[in-house]
Amino acid sequence: MKKTSEKIKNKNRLTSKFYGKSSYVKMIDSYYSNKEIRSYRSFFIKEKKTFFNKLNLNKKLIALDVGTGRQSIALSKYFSHVDHFDITKKHVLLLRNYIKKNKIKNISSYNADLDSFKLKKKYDFINLDGILMHTNNPTNFLMNIMSSLKDEGIIKLLIYKSGSLKFILINFLRDIIKITNIKIESPFKNKVTNMLFEDDLYVPILNLFDESKLYSALNTLSGSSNKDIKLKNFAINKKIDTKKFHHSLSFFVTKKANKSHPVISKLKVQPQIVPGFLKEEFSFYESVGEKLISIIKILKNKKIDKNKELDFKVSILRIYKISQYKFFYRDLTYESLITLLNNELFNINQILLKNHYD
Ligand SMILES: C[S@@+](CC[C@H](N)C(=O)[O-])C[C@H]1O[C@@H](n2cnc3c(N)ncnc32)[C@H](O)[C@@H]1O
Repeated sequence: MKKTSEKIKNKNRLTSKFYGKSSYVKMIDSYYSNKEIRSYRSFFIKEKKTFFNKLNLNKKLIALDVGTGRQSIALSKYFSHVDHFDITKKHVLLLRNYIKKNKIKNISSYNADLDSFKLKKKYDFINLDGILMHTNNPTNFLMNIMSSLKDEGIIKLLIYKSGSLKFILINFLRDIIKITNIKIESPFKNKVTNMLFEDDLYVPILNLFDESKLYSALNTLSGSSNKDIKLKNFAINKKIDTKKFHHSLSFFVTKKANKSHPVISKLKVQPQIVPGFLKEEFSFYESVGEKLISIIKILKNKKIDKNKELDFKVSILRIYKISQYKFFYRDLTYESLITLLNNELFNINQILLKNHYD
């Protein structure tokens, strides 16, 4: 038992170490900028109108936010108080510094691991934007958070979308990096792209969930029925759609009066590069999926030649760019994107094959 809890702490420690040095902290000035805060505020109000308009922003409500703190700053305009929590001490220190400098009185920031930390208050609004997939024990995390939501309170939960082209490719690249230990640092000219690249490929934990199981877990934890859960980009009968799926999915859940403390079974993670899953979209499986699986299989059994490493890294970068097609290949059709991807998979296969004969 003791061993298990030690292991959990260590894995989350890696996450806080990563975010302490990498990703968002490198660009915190622009994330805390007035422009960014304004833009998030208008996004929040737009989402509120569509998904949780009954929340009455009367300046008496309190909110909880997790992350870099930039969304806490934005939300502090609408709530009497915002409690910010994050496992990354650096995020907490940066936010504390910002609120002191800007004389903001209604934000408190705490360094805590929400897999285990027992929250003491109940909140009217909880903002979990891109958090759940990075924590080591998402089941505990969610049960913990949901127990601190007031009755009729709202939680926004945004996760990365399983079965989207972006996250299938990111999972593929993460699998490659895990097997080969390849390190690529700041390869792009653009700072934002470098930050995303680091975050997507090197953050220690990035889980994609079985979304229908998560949906029913949210039902159980909130004591609500489906009509109390509003969905953005959820597809009830489809697990994978590389052409149409957006790369994120949001749940907006209203908690219903619930005397008991519901318990859920362990949230199921959905591995992406496995035949059973990829065959759910058979045309993609035939054109691309099979090749992704085969490359991972080959890599498990052989090392990349030193003199092929650069070509291999270039392929990783090109596939990453394809995963970020909305940014890099905005005007390309889906078919052209798949052709581009296939060219790159062919290149990787050549690199691996040449290992045999050189
Ligand atoms: C991708 S970032 C989310 C950024 C957020 N969307 C924002 O704009 O601020 C993930 C965040 O989750 C935090 N996190 C991950 N696991 C956690 C845990 N167990 N407890 C508290 N925070 C955690 C990380 O420290 C990091 O700040």
